[in-house]
Amino acid sequence: MFIKMKLIAAVSENWGIGKDNRLLFNIPKDMKFFREKTMGKTVILGRKNLESFPGGKPLKNRINVVLTRDKSFSCEGAITVNSIEELLKLDCVDENAFVIGGESVYRGLLGYCDLCYITKVHECAECDKFMVNLDESADWQLLSETERLEDNGHIISFCVYVNLNKYPHTTDVLSSEDKE
Ligand SMILES: NC(=O)c1ccc[n+]([C@@H]2O[C@H](COP(=O)([O-])OP(=O)(O)OC[C@H]3O[C@@H](n4cnc5c(N)ncnc54)[C@H](OP(=O)(O)O)[C@@H]3O)[C@@H](O)[C@H]2O)c1
Repeated sequence: MFIKMKLIAAVSENWGIGKDNRLLFNIPKDMKFFREKTMGKTVILGRKNLESFPGGKPLKNRINVVLTRDKSFSCEGAITVNSIEELLKLDCVDENAFVIGGESVYRGLLGYCDLCYITKVHECAECDKFMVNLDESADWQLLSETERLEDNGHIISFCVYVNLNKYPHTTDVLSSEDKE
């Protein structure tokens, strides 16, 4: 099965993504980027990530698919699945679906993704959860990176990585909207 989805994450210099079940940074420009990319799409998230949202509620105006092994778990306004196999059978999990974390979901689904949108926050932060370091992975190649910009005291850049197992020739994706 040739499944394609996308992944979106904000990472610190050492690819940290969270601490104590919270995000590391509050960066309005990154939040705006996240909203624009995911609005109207399917978002795939872990049960712990969901619980970190305000009121533990799913994201509005998106189809929320929550991964949990707890068969009794339910959340109003979200679809619940108990395994990756079950997830991949859903019609809403297509090339417009976004994997939005946390760590265990990123790790479990990275191989199914064709593109990763990574916001790099150019600073170190204390963290206990990490995204796979794509700069050190032979399976991923940096396709584009914006100039660095400042927001809320943080220096960030927006990066796009391509999965070389899905696109062995990166020119295949260079013509897409993701070439910036
Ligand atoms: N920087 C970013 O862009 C970003 C984005 C999102 C999240 N985060 C951060 O990431 C951290 C959370 O990450 P996390 O790894 O602790 O939690 P998580 O990935 O959000 O959720 C983990 C839970 O998801 C369920 N799960 C995971 N894989 C599964 C599978 N294959 N099948 C069925 N269920 C599965 C399990 O739920 P059950 O225990 O219910 O079985 C597991 O305990 C937080 O600090 C959060 O703020 C950062």
